[in-house]
Amino acid sequence: MCGIVGYIGHRDAWPIVLKGLKRLEYRGYDSAGISLISENRLSIYKKVGKVQELENFSEGRNLSGTIGMGHTRWATHGIPSDRNSHPHTSNDGRLTIIHNGIIENYAILKEELVSRGHVFNSDTDTEVLIHLIGEIYKKENVDLLEAVRLSLHQVSGAYAIVIMDEDQPEQLIAARKGSPLVIGVGAGEYFIASDATPIIEYTKNVIYLNDNEIALVKREELVIKRLDNVVQTPYIQELELKLEMLEKGGYEHFMLKEIFEQTRSIRDCLRGRIYPNEGRVQLGGIKEYADKLKNIDRIIIVACGTSWHAGLVGEYLIEEYARIPVEVEYASEFRYRNPIITEKDVVIAISQSGETADTMAAIQMAKERGATIFGVCNVVGASIPRLTHAGVYTHAGPEIGVASTKAFTAQVTVLTLMAFYMAQQKGTLTQAKLVELLTELDHIPEKIEKALESNALILDIAHKFKDSRNCLFLGRGSGFPVALEGALKLKEISYIHAEGYPAAEMKHGPIALIDEEMPVVVIATRNSSYEKVISNIQEVKARKGVVLAIVTEGDTEVRGMVDYCIEIPDASEAFLPLLATIPLQLLAYHIALLRGCNVDQPRNLAKSVTVE
Ligand code: F6R
Repeated sequence: MCGIVGYIGHRDAWPIVLKGLKRLEYRGYDSAGISLISENRLSIYKKVGKVQELENFSEGRNLSGTIGMGHTRWATHGIPSDRNSHPHTSNDGRLTIIHNGIIENYAILKEELVSRGHVFNSDTDTEVLIHLIGEIYKKENVDLLEAVRLSLHQVSGAYAIVIMDEDQPEQLIAARKGSPLVIGVGAGEYFIASDATPIIEYTKNVIYLNDNEIALVKREELVIKRLDNVVQTPYIQELELKLEMLEKGGYEHFMLKEIFEQTRSIRDCLRGRIYPNEGRVQLGGIKEYADKLKNIDRIIIVACGTSWHAGLVGEYLIEEYARIPVEVEYASEFRYRNPIITEKDVVIAISQSGETADTMAAIQMAKERGATIFGVCNVVGASIPRLTHAGVYTHAGPEIGVASTKAFTAQVTVLTLMAFYMAQQKGTLTQAKLVELLTELDHIPEKIEKALESNALILDIAHKFKDSRNCLFLGRGSGFPVALEGALKLKEISYIHAEGYPAAEMKHGPIALIDEEMPVVVIATRNSSYEKVISNIQEVKARKGVVLAIVTEGDTEVRGMVDYCIEIPDASEAFLPLLATIPLQLLAYHIALLRGCNVDQPRNLAKSVTVE
C-alpha cells in the first residue's frame, strides 16, 4: 500500500525523503507528497501521479530543512488527486501527518469533528486522524506524544503514521498498528520508513516498531512507548540488505532483472538446506516442529494472489510426497468463514511481503483456534514472520517489480523443501528417492538458466500475441497453478484479459470462447498427464484456436500440432512448476512492454496489500 519516509538529523531532509519515496514507490504510485520544516515554517508539496511529478513540481523552490517526511499513495479513501495526497494537516495547520493503513471508524470521528467546527480539505481517513490529534493536543494541554497516544485509543483500524509539528522542529512522532514501520538509527539522525529500502544507504542499524508502539524521535534521542504508556527498550537489528539489490543492475526494468535473477534466488533459497548425497533436507526455521510433523492431520495453506498459486503447487507436492492432506485457501475467504481448525492442524501462510492484511488476519484466527502456524515469507522481519510460530524464509532478495516473479519460484522452492522435509520426518519417501530428488533439485538453477535462454524466441512470439484481447492458459496437475500464474502475470501487467483453467475443465465452459482470435497457452511438458493434455490441445485446434505450448526439450509430438512452442529442460514432475513458469513470466513481460505498459508499476496495483 502506501509508503512513508521520515528524516530528522543534520542533513537536508528533502533529498533523503525524495529518494526514499522513489525506493518505496512500488508500494503505491498514484500521488506523492512531502512536508518540511525550514526556519520554523512548515511547507507541504503534494502532487497527483508518480514521485517524479512531485520532483518536477517542486523544482526551484526552497527545499531546505533538516526535518521532513513524505508519502507515496495507493488510494483507499478518496480518488488520487492533489488534495487527497498526503501529508494532511490538523485544523489549525500546525500538525502534519503521513499515514499508511485505514482508519475504520473515520466516518463517525469525522461527523463529530465537523459538528465541533472542523473543516476538512480532503476525502481521506487520514485527515480525520490528524484533526483528532490536533484537537486533543489543544484541549488536553499535553505534549504531542501524549496527544497522539490518547488519540490512537479512539481509533480502530490499521496505521503506520509519522507526525510533524511546525512549532517543534526538533521531533517527529511515529506509531504503528498493523502497518509496518522501521526506524533507522544513525549518528545524530534517525530515518523512519515503511521498510528498510530507503534507509539502507545511510545506516544498517534499524529498529522494527511493534504493533501498538509509539516513538518520539529527536536528533539525539529516541523514546519508544506502548500505547498503554509503558516505555520499551529499543531492539536494534543489523540489516542484511545490500544497496545493489535495490538497483536495476543494467536491466531495463526491475521485473526483467528479477526474472533473470531466478537462477541465483533459487540457489540462495536452497543453500544450506539440502544435502543431496545424504538425501537430507534441513529446515532450521521449523526444526522444533519436526516431531509434530509426523502426526499432523492436515495442512491448510493460506495466501493471496501469486502466493496462493504457490500454495496450490505446495498442495500437489506435500500430498504427493509427504502424504498429508492439504487445503489451499484464499486468506480473504478463509478469515471470514468459520473454518474447522484443530490443534493438530498446521497452517502455512505464504506471503512475499509478509504484510498482506488478509493473510495476517487468517493467521490470527487460526492461531486463536490452536493451530501451529508456519510462515513462508520473503521480507525478513516483516509482520507475518513475526506473527507465526516458525517459518522458512524464501531468501529471494528484495522484489521491486510489482508483479511477483522470483518470489513465486522461491516460494515454490521452499514448499518443495517442506514437502521433502515432511516426507523425511514421516518416512513416506525412501532414502534413495530423497537422494535422487535432492540431487535433481540441486541442479534446478542451471535448468532455470537454460529456460531463460528462450528470451529472444519469446519476444518473437509476444509480437504475435500482443494485440489479443483475451488469452486462455491451460494446465493439468501441478501445471494448473502454473497456468493460473501465467494468466495472472499477463493480465496484471498487459491488461489483456486472461484466465487460467485446468485443461480438462475447458470443455465445461471456456471452450465456447475459442476461435481463431483466441490464443491458448498450454503447459504440455512430458509428465504423467502429457497424453491427456495432447487431447486438450486437439480440442482447441479443432476449433481453430491458436496454441502456444510449453514443452519439454526435444518434444516433437506437441510441436507437430501447435502454432508456437517454447522448450524447457526435462525434469521430474516435482520441478516442472519451477521451470514452466519462467517462459510465462517472460511472455507477460514482453507482451506488456510491446503494448506500452508500465511493467514495474502496473495500474491500480500495489506491492503489499495492507488493507483487506
Ligand atoms: C501478483 C502479486 C500479488 C501478490 C499478492 C500477495 O503478481 O504479486 O498477487 O502475490 O498480493 O502478496 P504477498 O505475497 O506479499 O502476500
